[in-house]
Amino acid sequence: MKLLGIETSCDETSVAVLEEDGTVRSNLIASQIERHRPFGGVVPEIASREHLEHLPPLVQKALEEAGISLDDISAVAVTCGPGLIGALLVGVAAAQGISYGRSIPLIAVNHLEGHIFSSWLQPEGPATPLPSRFLSLVVSGGHSSIYDVRPSEARDVRMLNKTKDDAAGEVFDKVAKFIGLPYPGGPQVEKLAREGDASRYQFFRPQARSDSLDFSFSGLKSSAIRLAREEGLAAESEDSGRRASAGDFCASFQQTVCDQIIDRLERVWQMLGSEEGPMPAEMGLAGGVAANGALRQRIESWGAAKGLTIRLAQRRFCTDNAAMIAFAGLQKLRRGEIADPRRVAARSRLPAGM
Ligand code: KG4
Ligand code: ZN
Repeated sequence: MKLLGIETSCDETSVAVLEEDGTVRSNLIASQIERHRPFGGVVPEIASREHLEHLPPLVQKALEEAGISLDDISAVAVTCGPGLIGALLVGVAAAQGISYGRSIPLIAVNHLEGHIFSSWLQPEGPATPLPSRFLSLVVSGGHSSIYDVRPSEARDVRMLNKTKDDAAGEVFDKVAKFIGLPYPGGPQVEKLAREGDASRYQFFRPQARSDSLDFSFSGLKSSAIRLAREEGLAAESEDSGRRASAGDFCASFQQTVCDQIIDRLERVWQMLGSEEGPMPAEMGLAGGVAANGALRQRIESWGAAKGLTIRLAQRRFCTDNAAMIAFAGLQKLRRGEIADPRRVAARSRLPAGM
């Protein structure tokens, strides 16, 4: 059995072919980053038009790369939300057409659940077997949350925390933009941070004394932007001293983001410890920000100290991709959760588990 996955929720058009055991046969991504870069962020109208142009040939290429035709596909999984409504509609309409025209099941997948399951996908061969219960930390451009998941039970994704304001990737992007780094800023900040001294700058640390489980990144963002302005930091400066300062700034900022993530993870862990029953044995790290090397290291050592197996999403599956959508779709298919192709709707807001 083979699944076709389609993802068009934001600025990446992606199509994948997945085997029943989670082997990724193809996972193609047409990134629109260059088209949106002049605007410093994603322009919804451009995103929809790009998806419309790139999706049909990408379906063809993904099938070719997997060495199969549409006749060999048993089900189609598509992101139905959350995301940009016009962008989502392109993928959903294509999947509806394939499902209806071929009389194969349509699986409507929540984008966040795609990220959640992505941590168990492998670059080659079958996916790592999913435990009956696990935690997942999703940090992306639009979301930052920790989930408690029981994959074999319908709708059993418990959101343990969320962000009160900005998402982790969003602050990376905004702070990076302020010091003149191109969109998306996360990878650029990581690159500059490699040569920087993380102890040089101190930033605002939100609610260090409160016991809230939620993330909050907006105070850190404002304090970073204020500091960058005061110091006159510019990543592309001619002045080598100012360039070096930008490196120290990025390293310090990245470390503060990681500190907060670990801090909230610890609080969530304590909260889970106060509940009855055994603790989860595995935790996945996923989403665009999960590609960050510093964060990966911190999460791994935190997990090791807790005796928790950490599943770091492979970097190729961190940012938006259709393989993760097909894999989350596979879990729904196993639970018999099939959508009616005439009724499935795209939804810009959609909490995980819905
Ligand atoms: O998951 P994703 O592709 O899109 C959403 O669903 O939001 O995440 C994109 C986000 C962007 O904010 C980008 O700057 C961030 O992930 N990102 C990173 C890194 N690579 C991507 N942030 C920090 N370090 C990275 N290496
Ligand atoms: Zn995403």
